[in-house]
Amino acid sequence: MADSSLSKINAAKAALEYVKDDMCVGLGSGSTTREFIKLLGEKVREGKLKKITCVTTSFDSRFLAIQNGLFVTETDAIDEIDIAVDGADRVTKTALLKGGGGALTREKIIGYNAKRFIIIIDESKVHVGEVLEGEVNIEVLPFAAPIIMKRMKQYKPVIRMAKAKLGPVISDNGSFIIDCQMRLENPKKTEEWLDAMPGIVENGIFTRFDMIIVGSEKGARTL
Ligand code: A5P
Repeated sequence: MADSSLSKINAAKAALEYVKDDMCVGLGSGSTTREFIKLLGEKVREGKLKKITCVTTSFDSRFLAIQNGLFVTETDAIDEIDIAVDGADRVTKTALLKGGGGALTREKIIGYNAKRFIIIIDESKVHVGEVLEGEVNIEVLPFAAPIIMKRMKQYKPVIRMAKAKLGPVISDNGSFIIDCQMRLENPKKTEEWLDAMPGIVENGIFTRFDMIIVGSEKGARTL
């Protein structure tokens, strides 16, 4: 069986090459990014990278970054984000689906505002087929959820439920996550259509990024 963790580590290692001294690094969320955070921490602790500042896209990444000795700050304390590195759930060359971990809003804020936005995945995330389709994750204000569920009815919306708590998942921003099944003939248009709906905080369709690195057991390639 393929070792997906080795593939994730190799993707993370390839992304690490783009991090230089003095950079502000946007840390995404998810298991692949966790490998990146650990490697970045290692390099900083060894003194191979200096003056690295991090901003994070979730409490999960924040905790891990701090545990790994990285300097984490908030967006009001930085001028710009030099590079952001993040994972994805499903990928084509021009669009991604993200939000499996419920961190899509902060991920988009950090990724879209970085000078360079790098996606790191393993081969299992590369979408086979011309048209991107799958689960589109949407963060919504709890007050708006019933209305949005009705508007999205044809896409089989489900409010994501928590596993270790009663009731719905509450995002790091205090919102609900709605998961829909969609086929995206025009991802950019759907991304904008969703964002224009009152009550939607953000959606997990990403159409702006600079590079996708696909890790395998042997190394990494760009898509
Ligand atoms: C978090 O909300 C997601 O967008 C993650 O970036 C995405 O789910 C990728 O996670 P993995 O690297 O764990 O697959």
